[in-house]
Amino acid sequence: MSGFFLALNPIVKMNYEVLFSEIHAKIKEEKNNGKVAGYIPELKLVDPSKFGANLIFINGGTYNYGDALERFSIQSISKVFSLVLAYKLVDEKLWKRVGVEPSGTAFNSLIQLEYEKGIPRNPFINAGAIVISDILITYLKHPKDDFLAFVRKLANNETINYSHTIAKSEKEKAYTNYALIHLMKSFKNIKNDIEEVMDFYFHLCSIKMNCEEISKAFLFLANDGKLEHTNEQILTKAKSKRINSIMQLCGFYDEAGEFAFRVGLPGKSGVGGGIVALYPNRYCISVWSPKLNAKGNSFLGTRFLEVFTTEIEESIF
Ligand code: DON
Repeated sequence: MSGFFLALNPIVKMNYEVLFSEIHAKIKEEKNNGKVAGYIPELKLVDPSKFGANLIFINGGTYNYGDALERFSIQSISKVFSLVLAYKLVDEKLWKRVGVEPSGTAFNSLIQLEYEKGIPRNPFINAGAIVISDILITYLKHPKDDFLAFVRKLANNETINYSHTIAKSEKEKAYTNYALIHLMKSFKNIKNDIEEVMDFYFHLCSIKMNCEEISKAFLFLANDGKLEHTNEQILTKAKSKRINSIMQLCGFYDEAGEFAFRVGLPGKSGVGGGIVALYPNRYCISVWSPKLNAKGNSFLGTRFLEVFTTEIEESIF
């Protein structure tokens, strides 16, 4: 872990775009051992120097920096959307099929799954998100269309879409994810056809969004479950609290403790290099930088958020 402070002028702190550029200028000079995700061939094609950030406040104010308006593959960030939709559909029964404990293992680990009899530790490790996909296939009439419509509604944006190229690219190398689903099927925790579940799972991970769209789509979780643009209560306040607590404890896999320690916000990462984090009743922030650390979380993205919450002195802790 490297040093924290930028010693910014307090006046500069009020202008978030300037603050973002100051933070970025500082942290990009630091040593960065990150690498772009290589195990999904299509993700390797992304320019590693891309960097974008967006901050959006409840009751107004949105600030973009760098490549904030360029779409990228959101990967596991999408697992929050699928969890929310499944929770809406099946209510507390959901927790019979998937746990809410941090795993302390890598996002695609098989280790716990056998001795915990096919019940994934939480909905954000790959095994958990695959079970959630299975549930959505059972409950949704047109799973891929209905899921996309839900994400579009959250972001208030009808142009958000899957990348079939990325979904196909992931499928071609998805040996570990297939091992996970076969193991869970043997424990009877997968009810639908394996290919159908995996096709849905690859597609939900392939969604492309930009930082501004991601922040907007997550804002309801900072707003007690209510969509700002329509006033629709997507989740009750109690359920929204639970999703945030799972993000806090499980959103960064075996680095959840480190992220809480450094950034101090609930959030979710994806191997496309995106991270979204939120401060309940206050703001939502997204960052994109494709190089990942050894745990699969954006190297510069994490560092950016660490300096941001330290500088503005607004984290939940
Ligand atoms: O299943 C996978 O491995 C990817 N589609 C998603 C992994 C991911 O984003 C983990 N997050 N940091």
